[in-house]
Amino acid sequence: MAASKDKLERDRIVSAASLDDDGSFELKLRPRRLQEFIGQAKVKENLSVAIEAARSRGETLDHVLLYGPPGLGKTTLASIIANEMGAEFQQTSGPVLQIKGDLTAILTNVRAKQVLFFDEVHRLQPALEEILYSALEDYKLDIIIGQGPSARTHTMDVPAFTFVAATTRAGLLSAPLRSRFGIVLRLEFYTDQDLTVIVERSAEILGIRVDKAGAKEIAGRARGTPRIANRLLRRVRDYAQVRGAGHIDLATAQAALKMLEVDRHGFDEVDRKLMLTIIEKYQGGPVGLNTLAAALAEEPDAIEDIYEPFLIQIGFLDRTPRGRVATKLAYEHFGIVPGTKQNALF
Ligand SMILES: Nc1ncnc2c1ncn2[C@@H]1O[C@H](COP(=O)(O)OP(=O)(O)O)[C@@H](O)[C@H]1O
Ligand SMILES: [Mg+2]
Repeated sequence: MAASKDKLERDRIVSAASLDDDGSFELKLRPRRLQEFIGQAKVKENLSVAIEAARSRGETLDHVLLYGPPGLGKTTLASIIANEMGAEFQQTSGPVLQIKGDLTAILTNVRAKQVLFFDEVHRLQPALEEILYSALEDYKLDIIIGQGPSARTHTMDVPAFTFVAATTRAGLLSAPLRSRFGIVLRLEFYTDQDLTVIVERSAEILGIRVDKAGAKEIAGRARGTPRIANRLLRRVRDYAQVRGAGHIDLATAQAALKMLEVDRHGFDEVDRKLMLTIIEKYQGGPVGLNTLAAALAEEPDAIEDIYEPFLIQIGFLDRTPRGRVATKLAYEHFGIVPGTKQNALF
């Protein structure tokens, strides 16, 4: 991740990326079994059938690819898969592995039936892909012993294991890598209903009192993302403790979220800037991704991965072959009449 993207993400309370102080809470709040995992009915059904079938045959689960925007539960599901299979769990990621030796070391130590979770698989070094392919395809690993003319290749067997990979950008995976996965699952943004349940569950684990209306209010502003819902819950709790009666009801949630400047849609500065740039600077679009990125002083891939998916989901933004377009709904939200420049909010 480039520096600008990092910085921006750190400042955003509604960022879907994991922030510095999220770590220990996320561990506590992470569901351990498929049954505890809320929402994503299709994903859960697919997984539970595959897991049950593999278990009843006494086999290793097929390799799994999980993809979707950050904060929707990919890492959580990977560890759930290990739990449900009664398998060991080991984790690594694309950016961590720099040289062939790193990957070879991991693969030579793989244990039978274990889950090897590989995060940010789209950032795997191309030079390492080939090693991975044969390990995934026929559980074989080529090791080169020695150097120069006397170097020899030794092929060793790797025990059957389950490779679970996660990515925010499935489109960047090479076709050969994609084809190694028997199970490919896309995570969707959560409904407000599911997020309300998630907020209630998290509140219970953290010992926070929240009523239904308070939970709903937090959920509605969490951009369809459990990680954000959990973070907002913690910030609202702080507010309730200091300014309120200790528990979270609708009024407390609203006051806290107002103070935090999280609006009705969970929009923040960047979302507003992105939409208003399209509307005001480019007359609603279409505007190309690179042009938009330059106007916002952002990287195109940050815009595409982090900001756009949610704006598209709630119907504010369209991706067309000629570029990004602001929808009627977006104009309405900002109180702007198409073709005019002034607006009610800014
Ligand atoms: N379906 C879910 N039910 C309950 N909590 C969830 C669910 N999905 C995600 N979470 C919560 O959101 C946090 C972020 O999920 P994570 O798996 O780290 O997302 P990702 O790996 O996709 O970025 C987790 O710590 C977990 O507490
Ligand atoms: Mg993750």
